[in-house]
Amino acid sequence: MASLVQCAYVMLDSLMDRIVGTPSIWLLVQKVLGYPEAKEAMYRSAIAGRGTLLDFGCSSGHLGRAFAGVEYYGVDTDERGIAAARKRWENQPQMHWICANILDRPFPPGEFDQVLVGCTVHHLSDSALVPILRELAFCLRPNGILHIFDPVRQKKDGIGPRMLRKLDRGKYTRTLDQILTALHATSAFKVEHTAILPAPRTVWQDCDTGYVRAIRLEGLETAS
Ligand SMILES: C[S@@+](CC[C@H](N)C(=O)[O-])C[C@H]1O[C@@H](n2cnc3c(N)ncnc32)[C@H](O)[C@@H]1O
Repeated sequence: MASLVQCAYVMLDSLMDRIVGTPSIWLLVQKVLGYPEAKEAMYRSAIAGRGTLLDFGCSSGHLGRAFAGVEYYGVDTDERGIAAARKRWENQPQMHWICANILDRPFPPGEFDQVLVGCTVHHLSDSALVPILRELAFCLRPNGILHIFDPVRQKKDGIGPRMLRKLDRGKYTRTLDQILTALHATSAFKVEHTAILPAPRTVWQDCDTGYVRAIRLEGLETAS
């Protein structure tokens, strides 16, 4: 019986790998699960006012509708994603798409009023996450705002969220406290607000989303 369950799991895992690895299918699955609308609403509600916004890990710009009204800069290492985003939003001159690794410092210091890290933290190990958060602090002006949204593990999670997290390509789903620990390790931010936002109600319930709003401290050492 145990090996049957194991076999079913391996099959499901490789099926999920195929789905997640094919961008058009993955976008469709996300649509069915109601993710784009839920994410757009979350991101829109956090990004108040005007100014410049850096969206770290913007992917193919599939959530671009969330960013109306701000001078938007999406950055990602994914060349195909950035090319698709440029095409998708070519009529929006306030939206800029940059294909770069944030660790290569593609932006001058203090360039942005706000930085968004949307559902990307669980794709990054601690050893990748902390240096990236430091680079994002470098990009933010003093007192600029960092927004982190990410699926979070909680004791209450049932089988649905646990399975989805196992099948997700992001292998580092953390608790909210673990995200805060990584943020504190940068010595670059003061946490202003945290929240747990309920997952959208869909056919397959995921875990809730953790939200952290933090202020970039003044007088940071910005040299590499
Ligand atoms: C899960 S996806 C983005 C999800 C999207 N923000 C959302 O809310 O649906 C994470 C993205 O981060 C990008 N990424 C990871 N490390 C990066 C780095 N060092 N510099 C730039 N982009 C990076 C990946 O290429 C990937 O497209």
